[in-house]
Amino acid sequence: MEREIWSLERMRGLFDLAGKVAIVTGGSGAFGHAAAKGLAAFGADVVITSRRLEKLETAAADIGAAGTKVLPISCDATDADSVEAMVQKTVDEFGKVDILVSAAGQANRFAAEEFPIDEWQKVMDSLVKGTYIACQAAGKRMIAQGGGKIITVGSVRGELGHPGGYSAYGTAKGAVHLLTKQLATEWAKYHINVNSIAPCIFWTPLTQQVLDDPELYKIFMQRIPWGRAADPQDFIGAAVYLASAASDFVTGDILMVDGGSTAG
Ligand SMILES: NC(=O)c1ccc[n+]([C@@H]2O[C@H](COP(=O)([O-])OP(=O)(O)OC[C@H]3O[C@@H](n4cnc5c(N)ncnc54)[C@H](O)[C@@H]3O)[C@@H](O)[C@H]2O)c1
Repeated sequence: MEREIWSLERMRGLFDLAGKVAIVTGGSGAFGHAAAKGLAAFGADVVITSRRLEKLETAAADIGAAGTKVLPISCDATDADSVEAMVQKTVDEFGKVDILVSAAGQANRFAAEEFPIDEWQKVMDSLVKGTYIACQAAGKRMIAQGGGKIITVGSVRGELGHPGGYSAYGTAKGAVHLLTKQLATEWAKYHINVNSIAPCIFWTPLTQQVLDDPELYKIFMQRIPWGRAADPQDFIGAAVYLASAASDFVTGDILMVDGGSTAG
């Protein structure tokens, strides 16, 4: 059977997010801020969250330049009640949640044989439990609404080991990748797309330790065929694509935004 291909007008609107409501956790951080700015530029109203309201308000002023609504809400991404209250506040304010970008997180590195177990657990709580809590709270609303788009943040470290002390971070990101695929399969019947953006390294407070260590810096750069770290702007296209109708049949994907790090 011959199937009609979309009109030019419909194709040109594939990335349009006007009328959509997005929540970006970690919205005052490098990744979250860039993703939120991209979603706003394509028309979405955006709720940005992290723990400190002052930092969120600075980010909100920048994101709001696109002309859509930006609401900063402080919440602790590792606390289910706090996240539930933030999602409820979003629904009270905007009536729905169409898009979740789960970008809150923190990390630390130690040699595997010395990693203090409570520090290891903090990384798991922040990245795995935090991602799951956000997906569950937003996912419930999306199920009730009849669909939505969820974007987790993975990492090259979720696919490949590294000698630099990543036994917590790499393990956590591997779990985030599988959680993404798991939710994608469970929630396909509710028309919820669940995908991950997996970056290579980019410079933020999270990676300052690497930037400060010339030997480690060299190892990292040698592993990126593109020859540079990522810039926060490198994630905007991926975030808009995975949040929009352009990716309606894409789910469970780990989209590597890594300058070729995992290509060979
Ligand atoms: N920087 C990198 O090289 C790199 C590489 C791959 C993946 N990532 C991932 O990108 C995501 C964002 O990291 P980033 O590099 O932008 O770091 P960042 O430090 O700039 O941002 C992290 C954000 O998370 C928030 N946050 C941390 N813990 C929180 C909590 N318990 N409750 C609420 N908010 C909390 C922080 O306030 C901040 O807004 C993380 O998942 C990180 O693992 C980063």
